[in-house]
Amino acid sequence: MTQTAISTFPNRQAGFARLRQLAERPDGRRITPLFAADPGRAARFTANFDDLSLDFSKSAIDDAALDTLFALADTADLNGFRQRLFAGQQVNETEHRAAMHMALRAPANAGLKAVMPGGTEDAAAMAGAEREKMRRFVEAVHSGQQRGATGLTFTDVLTIGIGGSDLGPRVATEALTIGRSDQRMNAHFLSNVDGHAFLEATRGLDPARTLVLVASKTFTTLETSMNAAAARAWIVAALGEAAVASHFAALSTNLKAVAAFGMNPERVFAFQDWVGGRYSLWSPVGLVIPLAVGWDKFQQMLDGAWAMDQHFRDTPLRQNLPVLLGLAGIWNTNALGCATQCILAYDDRLRRLPAHLQQLEMESNGKHVMLSGEQVGWDTCPILFGEPGTNAQHSFMQLVHQGTRPVPVDFILAANADHDRPDAHRALAANAFAQAEALMRGRSEAEIRAEMAAKGASQAEIDAVAPHRVAVGERPSNTVMFNRLDPFSLGRLIALYEHKVAVQGCLWGIDSFDQWGVELGKQLASGILPELTPGAHRHGHDSSTTALIERFLALRGDA
Ligand code: F6P
Repeated sequence: MTQTAISTFPNRQAGFARLRQLAERPDGRRITPLFAADPGRAARFTANFDDLSLDFSKSAIDDAALDTLFALADTADLNGFRQRLFAGQQVNETEHRAAMHMALRAPANAGLKAVMPGGTEDAAAMAGAEREKMRRFVEAVHSGQQRGATGLTFTDVLTIGIGGSDLGPRVATEALTIGRSDQRMNAHFLSNVDGHAFLEATRGLDPARTLVLVASKTFTTLETSMNAAAARAWIVAALGEAAVASHFAALSTNLKAVAAFGMNPERVFAFQDWVGGRYSLWSPVGLVIPLAVGWDKFQQMLDGAWAMDQHFRDTPLRQNLPVLLGLAGIWNTNALGCATQCILAYDDRLRRLPAHLQQLEMESNGKHVMLSGEQVGWDTCPILFGEPGTNAQHSFMQLVHQGTRPVPVDFILAANADHDRPDAHRALAANAFAQAEALMRGRSEAEIRAEMAAKGASQAEIDAVAPHRVAVGERPSNTVMFNRLDPFSLGRLIALYEHKVAVQGCLWGIDSFDQWGVELGKQLASGILPELTPGAHRHGHDSSTTALIERFLALRGDA
């Protein structure tokens, strides 16, 4: 990538305006002319970190666009933000907290600090001490030293938690256990307060052999509290009250609330406020991961994430994968006006990755107010969605190819699989590459007409069908590829997206680490809950909400 001199913008608004102007140039949204003009484009717009590559060449970003994106990064002081983040400063300004999840995967002696209201603490050392406690516990469970109340060893672990206390641990556990026969324990997850989810999660489980983890940063979340109470009742009904101490463990920052639940203090694994919920899979919240896959693999996952942390911290911006992934997204959102982002992992083991990234990106950057308190004057986080490839090709990819609006796609693929069907893995990869190529290249009406004529279609048939088969192309995608999906590369991949989110939040000028928007729904739900009982007084609702509550009660026979 060449570096042409471009000065920092006087403000972000000017930078975003410049991005829009660039997109409005003739061919400013087209990708294929950039490839035609530059045989070295793929190499110039691909960044590598060991075996991990990010190819963002299938986007309309040219040198001028890239320079403008970096100038905007300078305006937003991305370098300074990166330093403040790793110095443990309170980058989560509205909650007065550091965002020091990197300390959870760094060596205990890495010296990563977090600035707290009462002073600075050695975050890496604290995380390291708790990690050692986790390791001893995991080994005690696996060796049978820690057993259930009846003396049986634990074979199953049920993790109760929601949002960040569910999605990260779930995506990691699935990624490292699907298709394998070497897992140490069976992992089960319970997140939704829907009673059907509880029935499903405990179906076929033997309470005597089940270890229950209650994962909640705040230990006040309604869904998790109710599910934890249900699991407690389930254990008590089968094994008696005394079994609670040996069958439960808690993963939380709220040690008072944990004590009130009656948790055995030796089974409480703590973390600190500088770990955001959606960044907590690396903390005790992720305890299910080593229980399911073994400690060594969990440590390798942490090592992979720490490798990405160091890459993000130390690599110049122009070779920095999270920075480039973030900037490519800024281009799509703020220059092209794309409102969506599709995540297609061509790996069935990553089937929950889109769900995790939805929380990571949308809870972090779905904001409309800047740190200064002003309204943003530009769009922020797109709407994320995704499914594993190739399944997605047979559902929503029709719209991505031929819908009225471009949908940027991230293709994610490992070059090597962990099964003995190389033909299947080649077919998977061929589809990933073909989708990205098809999105960019499209198919013109002339090509379609020629093809139909060659196959002997009548002129009338060609006239009727050809326009429907046109794909305009010029649709952007990134391809993230690496050698093999293993614990290390999984940690590195998730951390890549974590830092991408931080980069984008910095450029958009928002607080990526708070989540005030989810509070309103929580507050209203706790107000409505007591009203869903026969004879309860209802007040303060609009007529639609009141009518819905009454109809709900009538259908239940509770009116
Ligand atoms: O509702 C959003 C949220 O606060 C997330 O940020 C968090 O991951 C989730 O709820 C669960 O919170 P907790 O871990 O405190 O139960």
